[in-house]
Amino acid sequence: MSNKPATLGVGLIGGGFIARFHIRSWVGVRDADILGVFDPDAKRAREACAMAKALGVGRAKPYPTITDMAADPRIGALWICAPNFTRGEVMEEICHAVVKGRAELVGVACEKPLGRNVREARKMFELARQAGLLDGYLENQVFSPAVVRGKEIVWARGAALSGPPYLARAAEEHSGPHMPWFWEGPLQGGGVLNDMMCHSVEEARFMLTPPGAPRDVLTPVSVTAYTNCLKWQEPKYAAVLARKSGGKTDYLKRPSEDFARALVEYKDAKGRTLVVETTTSWCYVGAGLRLSMELLGPEYALQINSLDAGLKVFFSREVRGKAGEDLVEKQNAEIGLMPVVADEAVEYGYTAENRHMVRSFREGRRPEENFGDGVAVAELLMAAYRSAELGKTLTFPNKGLETYVPPVALGRWNPKAR
Ligand SMILES: NC(=O)c1ccc[n+]([C@@H]2O[C@H](COP(=O)([O-])OP(=O)(O)OC[C@H]3O[C@@H](n4cnc5c(N)ncnc54)[C@H](O)[C@@H]3O)[C@@H](O)[C@H]2O)c1
Repeated sequence: MSNKPATLGVGLIGGGFIARFHIRSWVGVRDADILGVFDPDAKRAREACAMAKALGVGRAKPYPTITDMAADPRIGALWICAPNFTRGEVMEEICHAVVKGRAELVGVACEKPLGRNVREARKMFELARQAGLLDGYLENQVFSPAVVRGKEIVWARGAALSGPPYLARAAEEHSGPHMPWFWEGPLQGGGVLNDMMCHSVEEARFMLTPPGAPRDVLTPVSVTAYTNCLKWQEPKYAAVLARKSGGKTDYLKRPSEDFARALVEYKDAKGRTLVVETTTSWCYVGAGLRLSMELLGPEYALQINSLDAGLKVFFSREVRGKAGEDLVEKQNAEIGLMPVVADEAVEYGYTAENRHMVRSFREGRRPEENFGDGVAVAELLMAAYRSAELGKTLTFPNKGLETYVPPVALGRWNPKAR
């Protein structure tokens, strides 16, 4: 950090949907500016840079390669916001630039999931180590104000007087991802289980962990999971996916799961059993993205539902505007009574997440949510896939998980053929 400017210069790798969320969140981030974007789609890169400038969060410019961006002394850290199937090549290039002395970076932050499976997630971890970089795992939900404040209150009052929580329920649901690559098992690493349960298992584990304690005070004991394709394998909906992907996505032959649930059993330091119950789907057609969480203990309960928004608007049937996502992420309607999440970047946790990453990097500290957490999440998700595949509970430690690739990620899963 010594010869770096006082403000951390951040470069975004990927200028798509999530990059735009990070840019919007940056209005609440101190001591760092977004100064660069690399995206093979030059238009995307230009648009993301223009957005950063318009919001006053950095004089961002597009770079022709990751190495060029990393080598610019204005850039001190990189945020990986590219699709899951590019993780390895992206991290290899960062690591190479640093190890060969072309770039001087302090840290790298990577969007969820860290890898499409345990092997890939571990590789990311190793490459960050080789390059001597501080590593941040971008799991926004453990920074969401409702989750953070709820945990603080429940542990300070309920848990302190009546005992720790024993059950955390987390659900993440919407009507399906915005880009075709998410729907392709081999590209994304799976279906909704990989895409969204990564949030739920981590958020629920975070809630059950005593404030300030490291994640290893809880030991995963077993995972029991179930997956299915409830909606998108129906011919009518498979045809929608085929159309949106220019004929590439074929859910009649190669579906991914659009529904998944898992029960994770943990033991705490005193040998007590704690339970995480998660459910995720790409077939929830409500107002939009719904994040829900419950935390139950002996004499208390907490609940969060992101669609119970304080702001609601009503539009009569006479108001026929065009479809958009201006009220809530993955919005499904424009009329009737609609919830509005007034500041999504704050509510979903991106602002606090980025403040934490920036502060950690500037102070030379490893972020609290780091690649170690990303690997642990990948282990839980692969255990869930294996459990669903075998139709039985999987216990830890489980050696086979290191090399396990779920059938859906091999393009060989089809629940209709069972
Ligand atoms: N935290 C969350 O809630 C959340 C939400 C959405 C997406 N994500 C994650 O963010 C990542 C990106 O998702 P998205 O929704 O922005 O996808 P997207 O398809 O909207 O955008 C991805 C962008 O990356 C670019 N790209 C492709 N290959 C690249 C490469 N090799 N290097 C750099 N850029 C490349 C694409 O051109 C595109 O502009 C995924 O890993 C996804 O899981 C996280």
